[in-house]
Amino acid sequence: MKKVLVVYYSSYGHIETMAKAVVEGALQIPGVQVDLKRVAEIVPKEIAEKAHFKLDQAAEIADPAILANYDAIIFGAPTRFGNMPAQMRNFLDQTGGLWAQGKLIGKVGSVFTSTGTGGGNETTIQSFHTTLFHHGMIVVGLPYSCPELTNIAEVHGGSPLGAACIAGPDGSRAPSALELSLAKFQGKHVAEIVSKFQQ
Ligand SMILES: Cc1cc2nc3c(=O)[nH]c(=O)nc-3n(C[C@H](O)[C@H](O)[C@H](O)COP(=O)(O)O)c2cc1C
Repeated sequence: MKKVLVVYYSSYGHIETMAKAVVEGALQIPGVQVDLKRVAEIVPKEIAEKAHFKLDQAAEIADPAILANYDAIIFGAPTRFGNMPAQMRNFLDQTGGLWAQGKLIGKVGSVFTSTGTGGGNETTIQSFHTTLFHHGMIVVGLPYSCPELTNIAEVHGGSPLGAACIAGPDGSRAPSALELSLAKFQGKHVAEIVSKFQQ
């Protein structure tokens, strides 16, 4: 059985919602086990509360060492000035031991994001990919066979690099049905790819 991990960071819940859709998509492929986890918050609790972070997230906190146990890892991270947030960077910076042992070489890696306005929609994912390449991962995006990618009837996030949602400048916009379809497609696409791997 192939194992897919969806691991995310979310301050306000947009990426959490997108991550659940990615899981839903991956579960459409028979014989694939899918786990959902999140990375640890590193902002002090009182500051996170003041900033109205969504602290009640059910997903278990991931230990970086578990990445070695999966065939594919799909990372979700909102943008921070066009890059991943410190929480995800902190998580990835704890994977030096895995890197030294080449534990992630040949595994599939994929990334999705969320932005306030769309600024950083692609750069957040593209810059994230650099870390995956250093780990020797096979980087997978969101192909144009996903029909919603070419739907321009409404404003939406997402690109061939990966699914994304637009949270709005004040964060009040929830991921749309179209954006959730992109996330589902990406989950299914990654799971389908790993399910074809030998052994
Ligand atoms: C410090 C900081 C920097 C941000 N930088 C950007 C940015 O470069 N572009 C953008 O569109 N949104 C930016 N945002 C908005 C976040 O990306 C948005 O809140 C996030 O996508 C919501 O996802 P979440 O609910 O999963 O936390 C920023 C937010 C913060 C707090």
